[in-house]
Amino acid sequence: MSQIARVVAAVALAGVAALAWADYPEKPVTLVVPFAAGGPSDKIARDLAEALRKPLGQTVVIENAVGAGGTIGSAKVARAAPDGYTLLVHHIGMATAPALYRKLAYKVPEDFETLGLINEAPSVVIGKPTLAASNFKELRQWISSSGGKVNLANAGLGSASHLCGLMLQSALKTNMTPVPYKGTAPAMTDLIGGQVDLMCEQATNAVPQIEGKKVKVYGITSLERLALPALKDTPTLAEAGLDEFNVQVWHGLYAPRGTPAAVLAKLNAALRAALKDPELIKREEALGLAVVTDGRLDPAGHRKFVEAEKNRWAKVIKDAGEYAD
Ligand code: MLT
Repeated sequence: MSQIARVVAAVALAGVAALAWADYPEKPVTLVVPFAAGGPSDKIARDLAEALRKPLGQTVVIENAVGAGGTIGSAKVARAAPDGYTLLVHHIGMATAPALYRKLAYKVPEDFETLGLINEAPSVVIGKPTLAASNFKELRQWISSSGGKVNLANAGLGSASHLCGLMLQSALKTNMTPVPYKGTAPAMTDLIGGQVDLMCEQATNAVPQIEGKKVKVYGITSLERLALPALKDTPTLAEAGLDEFNVQVWHGLYAPRGTPAAVLAKLNAALRAALKDPELIKREEALGLAVVTDGRLDPAGHRKFVEAEKNRWAKVIKDAGEYAD
């Protein structure tokens, strides 16, 4: 076959493949959330599912596939049929799992199609209501003088609070005693009750507790302050003395590897449309989240970002020596 004939044949085949998926989606799409219902990731996924309904012309149903820091739900999607009907919403844990878990049933990003980054969510350092420290400087002095005895709650290995806690200890050059819980809800309950001292939790989950004065807030983990009323006087950790401290819990949308290009293009277009939905933007802003509008909304940009985050966190996790099998 001549070169021209080969090119013509390839273009024709691509055309046939695209035609085969022209009516996608023809039935509801499942969005797997690898964390519990009612938590930050679940809230984000439910809002996104609602906003995707119009551009996709189909219902998007949520399935919570919970456990092992989000790796159970991720493995499920990595193994699902690559037909665009099973997708994954996952946070920063997508990039940190390869360093945290000695045995991981999937490869990142190789076993997934990146569909675009959804949002970025700063965390906040919060403390039990009876803590004496009234600002981050005093908190830092207290942590340094406690000889590692300060209890730092987290929502389990691989959770956003666990990762933020690792980064915080690394920046403070000090150790605290990690106290892992089975999710954000029990960790927050014990922080409010004073059974643990501190937590570095997603603003999404912490703001209602700060508003209700059930916890103390010491700093924001992003480089920019947050425009939420509950945090209007809260400095960033970088401002409070932790130079360039920047931890954001981002969320992205994924499909199994091998999903047809025509389906990926439809899903990326639907995601872009959903992230322009004024109702979604309003809901995200109320939770302290910023919708992504830059090149990371592009599948290639999203993939590059995941790879960069994977490298960035691998060192922090290795230095901390906290792994799971
Ligand atoms: C959740 O939705 O439960 C959280 O995002 C879990 C976490 O803290 O990583």
